[in-house]
Amino acid sequence: MKTTLSIVVFCLMTMGLTAQKAEQLAMTPPMGWNSWNTFGTDINEQLVKDIADAFVELGLRDAGYKYLVLDDGWMAMERDENYNLVADPKKFPNGMKQVVDYVHSKGLKFGIYNCAGATTCAGYPGSRGFEYQDAKLYAEWGVDFLKYDWCDTENLNAKGAYQTMRDALHATGRPILFSICEWGDNEPWKWGEEMGHMWRVTGDIINCWDCKVGHGTWSSLGVWPIIKLRKDIRKYSGPGHWNDFDMMEVGNGMSVAEDRVHFTMWAMLASPLIMGNDLRSATKETIETLTNKEVIAVNQDELGVQAYCHSDEGDMEIWAKPLANGEWAFAFVNMSEEAITINHDWAWHPVKDDMSGRALEVHNKNYKIRDLYNHKNLGTSKQKLKATIGVHDVLMIRLTPVK
Ligand code: GLA
Repeated sequence: MKTTLSIVVFCLMTMGLTAQKAEQLAMTPPMGWNSWNTFGTDINEQLVKDIADAFVELGLRDAGYKYLVLDDGWMAMERDENYNLVADPKKFPNGMKQVVDYVHSKGLKFGIYNCAGATTCAGYPGSRGFEYQDAKLYAEWGVDFLKYDWCDTENLNAKGAYQTMRDALHATGRPILFSICEWGDNEPWKWGEEMGHMWRVTGDIINCWDCKVGHGTWSSLGVWPIIKLRKDIRKYSGPGHWNDFDMMEVGNGMSVAEDRVHFTMWAMLASPLIMGNDLRSATKETIETLTNKEVIAVNQDELGVQAYCHSDEGDMEIWAKPLANGEWAFAFVNMSEEAITINHDWAWHPVKDDMSGRALEVHNKNYKIRDLYNHKNLGTSKQKLKATIGVHDVLMIRLTPVK
């Protein structure tokens, strides 16, 4: 009896530890790549290998991108005779484990997709009723990340469905980052911290600055409609649990300047930075934006506070993000169709973030100012900040207190 009790206590402790360990998975916003925005269901083994190689060759791995995530369309249409999911034998002739091993051999982590419903959004077998079995299979393959979607979920309670999969992942004993993709319908920011590490806050992104494309019951949103819709849920985001503004469209058709703004804003909003472009054919400018280590450092700041809109004058928006150690990041975004010259007097523009209780103390401190795209110093907060910002472009700066 005593032995049984000790075993039970030991098991509970181990399960607790595993869960705890899993919670350490996303102390800063997860960074990676996802196949959906560019490839849809047109994915295969060679593509995964090429993308993994590109992570290394283009310096993306060194810049911090870690997860290579295969989205919808990786499965065969039917489960096998034991009801296990099977990788589509045409797309993945050597099975999924071999692909996962390849990704791991490059020093990267592997992510996979499924759905809480009976079928995925593209009509493949979903996990409803098979949560523990599927989680076990992913763990056997060495999966490190699960994106879990919300199609075909009739009569399912969202919180309950994500909790079931969370528990199934924990039960495997393998730390697997859990990415909730519920599009914001059931306000996942209110319960997501308990269930997973990041949650989508809207329907799907589309590669434009400011457009919406309707699909009957839902709309794809461009960069600014997404930001505007969800800028006010910042208090729910933080280390271990992030508002996910969706996979990025950097490199997918906007101008280089607009891509810079998109990347800046995702960094400022502490969103996961999940690339969504074809890395094999990415331009030099795209890679330069995506690997900007000074911008990435703002996203990865350990304080984990999502930026807020400090001022919005129509043509110009200023976004502010308090950072650890009394530092700040600012993005001056030119929303207009003409270049704008700024002459910003810090003393005249008090900066205070009520949510995080932090203020920019320009009256009793001096801050040195660093331009994060031009990689140069721009004087200090005692001087006026002068710059010209191009159309749909950004001046992104970091303020560090002078010791
Ligand atoms: C949903 C998700 C997308 C993608 C597709 C796959 O639309 O929001 O990110 O995963 O499903 O079918």
